[in-house]
Amino acid sequence: MSSYDVIIIGSGPGGYVSAIRCAQLGLKTAIIEKYATLGGTCLNVGCIPSKALLDSSEHFFNAKHNFQEHGIDLKGLQANLSQMINRKNEVVSQTCAGVKFLMDKNKISVYYGMGSFVDKQTVSVLAEDGSKTTLTAKNIVIATGSKPNFFPGMEPDKKRIITSTEALNMTEIPKKMLVIGAGVIGLELGSVFSRLGSEIDVIEFAPTLLPTMDASIGKEFGKILKKEGFKFHMEHRVESVVNMGKKVVLTALNKKGESINFEADYCLVAVGRKAYTEGLQLKNAGISANERGQVEVNEHLQTAVPTIYAIGDVVRGAMLAHKAEEEGVFVAELIAGQKPHINYNLIPGVVYTWPEIAAVGKTEEEIKAMGIEYKVGSFPIKALGRARASMDTAGFIKIIADKKTDEVLGVHMIAPRAADLIMEAVVAMEYRASAEDIVRICHPHPTYSEGMKEAAMAATDNRAMHI
Ligand code: FAD
Ligand code: NAI
Repeated sequence: MSSYDVIIIGSGPGGYVSAIRCAQLGLKTAIIEKYATLGGTCLNVGCIPSKALLDSSEHFFNAKHNFQEHGIDLKGLQANLSQMINRKNEVVSQTCAGVKFLMDKNKISVYYGMGSFVDKQTVSVLAEDGSKTTLTAKNIVIATGSKPNFFPGMEPDKKRIITSTEALNMTEIPKKMLVIGAGVIGLELGSVFSRLGSEIDVIEFAPTLLPTMDASIGKEFGKILKKEGFKFHMEHRVESVVNMGKKVVLTALNKKGESINFEADYCLVAVGRKAYTEGLQLKNAGISANERGQVEVNEHLQTAVPTIYAIGDVVRGAMLAHKAEEEGVFVAELIAGQKPHINYNLIPGVVYTWPEIAAVGKTEEEIKAMGIEYKVGSFPIKALGRARASMDTAGFIKIIADKKTDEVLGVHMIAPRAADLIMEAVVAMEYRASAEDIVRICHPHPTYSEGMKEAAMAATDNRAMHI
């Protein structure tokens, strides 16, 4: 039986990053993965493939709608979905192979198979060929991630009623697609197919899209997507979705309680994800999952058994790759005797549509509910010279600061390259900067980052200059 300092179950961004940090700190480390490739949801069926298809479809959309105004004439333009999927698959396999390279480089033992607890210190690995390996460790990290969620009546059949996983491997561009849920997956993958020519109808339970973000974001982004052809059916409760062979029929109740039918060739179910612990045999280690399926942890990410940790999507908090990575590093450093820290308030959230959406810190609604006196500075992207040059004029940057101290409390934006722009806000907030501090930093011209400076000026005595 092989013994380790640390065994990590699951090789997503939480697990594999934790393994690297453990190895860097001199801990003898093993990682277990039930699939044939490393990288978890994020690399195989999440972040990376979705961004690959978002980029391909964005190029197509621009070629179709925007190139002519730039003075580029194209003839015979066509979307070649199978080539887009092939390129996406190539990006995925290169990225997953990169993780295997990193495991080898850091001398981390990789075991392929289903990991399950035998007891608090022992894990067995059941390989696909039926062979079993038993491993022991002083510390074990559960990093088993999450799976798509669904509610009664909308069970995916993975043929026409699909999850994000199938949507990333379509063999045809749908004429019409229903999307249940106006959250991150619904809007990102809805955008992919809308750009390729599908009619998209989004059926959402809440009154706004992206309901967990600052309310200004959903309001503005709804307008942008409607111009692109999205149709939104808000405050609709889905009752059933049925695969009729060549089409799906969805029945929902609207706000007035009326029953409405929708038809399309596919229905994407994107109503959140749930923690995944199936097959782990948690009870053998003396741990149980809560009613949401999550492994409960304390502030040190320890489970009920102090030498067993859990990180990433399988525990509470944002289901984001970078949050999982931070937690992976955190437990590795804790096991090695260090005193790590994670600032959960400053985990940025990004939606990779175009324009992109990004946010960090508190929303205006949260700040209001906390009873904090605040001020808001907002600046429209269309007022930036850079935006006009590139024809990307939609969106805004909004900075919320404490009314008394001027400390930045939240930054919310819809902007070209918002995914990268948000890092200025994260750094500023990590150092507890005021809006005035951002104003006094020289920003290069012409860039979208000038929008941050202008929004900060708007937040301090309403002195934005270019509006
Ligand atoms: P996972 O990545 O889910 O990895 C868990 C791994 O554990 C899996 O490989 C699984 O096979 C393995 N496993 C489970 N049980 C066992 C077992 N018993 N034995 C062995 N192995 C096991 N997040 C972002 O931050 N940015 C994005 O752009 C983004 N885009 C996304 C797009 C989509 C379509 C989806 C679905 C998700 C996206 N996410 C994104 C979310 C992100 O993928 C997750 O937050 C992240 O993967 C969580 O990492 P993790 O390590 O906790 O778990
Ligand atoms: P989500 O939580 O972002 O959105 C789910 C949406 O479905 C919400 O708007 C919710 O109100 C709605 N909904 C819930 N039940 C419903 C019902 N019965 N009928 C109609 N609407 C209903 O979840 P999503 O989009 O599935 O994504 C899952 C997770 O994956 C997210 O939490 C996110 O963290 C992660 N992710 C992150 C990405 C990124 O960082 N760019 C990209 C994709 C996913």
